[in-house]
Amino acid sequence: MRTRFTDAFGVQYPVVLPGMSMVSIPQLVAAVSNAGGLGILATGPLSAEETLQAIKKIRALTDKPFGIGVTLMMPGAKENAEIGLNEQVPVINFSLGKGDWIVERAHAYGGKVIATVVNERHALAAERYGVDAILATGHEAAAHGGPVTSLVLVPALADAVNIPVIGTGGFADGRGLVAALALGAEGIAMGSRFSISQESPIHENTKRTVLSKGIEDTLYTAKFDGMDCRVMKTPRAEQISTSPINPVRAFKNSFGLAKQMRLNWFKLFFGAMIMGPKTFIQLARAANATEALELAINNGDCENGVHLIGQVQGRIMDIPSVAEIMDRVMQEAKDVQKELQH
Ligand SMILES: Cc1cc2nc3c(=O)[nH]c(=O)nc-3n(C[C@H](O)[C@H](O)[C@H](O)COP(=O)(O)O)c2cc1C
Repeated sequence: MRTRFTDAFGVQYPVVLPGMSMVSIPQLVAAVSNAGGLGILATGPLSAEETLQAIKKIRALTDKPFGIGVTLMMPGAKENAEIGLNEQVPVINFSLGKGDWIVERAHAYGGKVIATVVNERHALAAERYGVDAILATGHEAAAHGGPVTSLVLVPALADAVNIPVIGTGGFADGRGLVAALALGAEGIAMGSRFSISQESPIHENTKRTVLSKGIEDTLYTAKFDGMDCRVMKTPRAEQISTSPINPVRAFKNSFGLAKQMRLNWFKLFFGAMIMGPKTFIQLARAANATEALELAINNGDCENGVHLIGQVQGRIMDIPSVAEIMDRVMQEAKDVQKELQH
């Protein structure tokens, strides 16, 4: 299947693995790229050295195009982007920040750039910077989807910009791919679907818990990590979304957060205090979120942990390999396109 996205990015299928912290690791990235899609490494939790090693690992596992994702407002993200640019990674995907300098440097070596956005204003700004595609994240998505659903956001952005739009949020099968194309997208990114695959590092117990959940079993709350975020509906997630923050837990977890952000703890703690109660509470929530995410992803503990997942979890029924998922999506898309022609 060819679109402007597949042609420009040199991939066989218009299907992307988005950057998911602790999940989009080299093995999963390479599996998606080897299956004909575009795998994107999540660099959020990685230091510059770890990003470099991860890029080398991906290159050892695939000779196909791949990307790295950088959330520009997070500490360490610019350093990770620098590593990607120095390594001439084929695709850089940035979010939450001004990535004009990334576009300039990536284009100089023939690299491509994708901007992740949730509204028209940011899509137009990214187009002005010269990005090669927009990743539009709808409300259905796991984690930080915006307020507008994919059904409305994708056509709105496809009309607003002249570059390819990749829809994400709620896409997990061939019907979703054809629907996205009908809405004006030129590709889809599947987070929840690829996260429940054999190559995904998520604990088996958490993968099985996803299979047992329905389309209504998610929560969208700013009380988890300080930004509107979609998570699996579990007793712990419900408790977080309805209770005031636990200060003792936040204090304990702030040391882990400082380490993850590669910041001196005193600097983080007093810096957040000086910036006012809102920033302080946001950082306290982020500190607790990291611990909860690790419990679900690494330990399979969905009782005390919290798991990021989209509404489409209710449509995920099994744990196939990435290659099987890709074959299924492309075959179903072909069948649906044929049926629609009748
Ligand atoms: C397990 C998991 C972890 C994720 N981690 C992140 C993350 O660290 N940062 C981020 O911006 N998005 C994260 N996402 C969201 C994806 O990048 C993507 O926007 C989303 O999965 C798309 O919606 P879908 O799940 O309906 O396909 C995560 C998604 C999942 C399922």
